[in-house]
Amino acid sequence: MLDLTPRREDLDPIEIASRDEIEALQLQRLKATLRRVYDNVPAYWKKFDAAGVHPDDLKTLADLAKFPFTTKEDLRANYPFGLFAVPGEDVARIHASSGTTGKPTVVGYTKGDIEVWAEVVARSIRASGGRRGMKLHNAYGYGLFTGGLGLHYGAERLGVTVIPISGGMTERQVQLITDFEPDIITVTPSYMLAILDEFRRQGIDPRKTSLKVGIFGAEPWTNSMRSEIEQAFDMHAVDIYGLSEVIGPGVGNECVETKDGLHLWEDHFYPEIIDPVTGKVLPDGEKGELVFTTLTKEGMPVIRYRTRDLTRLLSGTARSMRRMEKITGRSDDMMIVRGVNVFPTQIEEQIPKVTGLAPHYQIVLTRDNRMDEMEVLVEASPDRAQAEARQASAGELGQLVKNLIGVTARITVTDPGGVERSQGKARRVIDKRPKE
Ligand code: DLL
Repeated sequence: MLDLTPRREDLDPIEIASRDEIEALQLQRLKATLRRVYDNVPAYWKKFDAAGVHPDDLKTLADLAKFPFTTKEDLRANYPFGLFAVPGEDVARIHASSGTTGKPTVVGYTKGDIEVWAEVVARSIRASGGRRGMKLHNAYGYGLFTGGLGLHYGAERLGVTVIPISGGMTERQVQLITDFEPDIITVTPSYMLAILDEFRRQGIDPRKTSLKVGIFGAEPWTNSMRSEIEQAFDMHAVDIYGLSEVIGPGVGNECVETKDGLHLWEDHFYPEIIDPVTGKVLPDGEKGELVFTTLTKEGMPVIRYRTRDLTRLLSGTARSMRRMEKITGRSDDMMIVRGVNVFPTQIEEQIPKVTGLAPHYQIVLTRDNRMDEMEVLVEASPDRAQAEARQASAGELGQLVKNLIGVTARITVTDPGGVERSQGKARRVIDKRPKE
């Protein structure tokens, strides 16, 4: 694979500034943000007053722990625009993410926010190895979802040529990658696998494409999936993270030269890790729930927003800004199967270890006679047609899951194409158990 390490002189100076400089900037911006929400958003001043805190109580970064959390429920309670901190005429754009239940989560951006967003996404694409003169095939969905437009503006900011194909029409994705010869692809990792299958179906060698790097995010994916995609396409695969409530994609990104977790763009987003049960702030290195406070957002700043994403903070490597470990799952993705906590990514990691299986999978949970049953649907690779061979693969995967996770799962190996495909975020778990 090509060396795509960006030149140091092309980085934003703050990416490689000293910790002291970064923290001084954070403190100054944090004070201004607390003041802004207290003065402009009734929901925040009411919460601060109820908790007995005032923006003036923040003297150090650690003082942030005194302030109340914001949750998805707060966004719902203030649906649609109640948490906006600027008059409607200053809102330049609205995005929303469809919740699994009820109302969507709505977010608003000022012109300034759109600028900052483009800047952090440009920084993310550059960290991934992108630079002016390259072409980027953007297969994240355009629309209310932040993926498509978020990547689009960032690519333009960096001076990269954007191909705004959006998600879906997989045959066309392959045709345009072949004909337009992009250097970069941005897409969810699960949809990248669907594109890979389509290359193979058309008899085109994916290693011969022009792609040099894929920037994958919007859903959890594992290092085993990274190896699979890197080998299949002979390109780098790096991780991009973000969420609508904070800004969208571009909250953090891996550096192509290290691929050792995602550097968080700490000059705009202040991260904390908390114990999800007690809410206590945990020291760097300990695993817990990721919480963000925006430092420069105008339209809809968030204070201590609980992401439900589980990870830990690590010191900087390729940049001075701290990293977070690849996200293994969300607290709400965690399945409790017969009392054992299981994340879909734990199953995902086992699949490539078994010969004869393709990386498409889905987990179905049922309850029979008050016993939880976990079924893993996984596809046979195209060369694995014989029932006996498939049975052997199923047995092997079942054993790995049992040994490593401690639960017995029924493994069903389907024909190629037998598992539901996503064109955006994959649906990994179907929970058919009765709700209590
Ligand atoms: O998924 C923004 C995005 C678009 C990120 C394109 C990256 C690329 P939401 O729809 O609001 O925003 O969903 C946010 O998706 O809280 C995580 O649970 C999950 N997520 C996003 N990126 C990653 C990642 C976009 N790299 C939610 N790894 C977040 C694991 C991710 N999970």
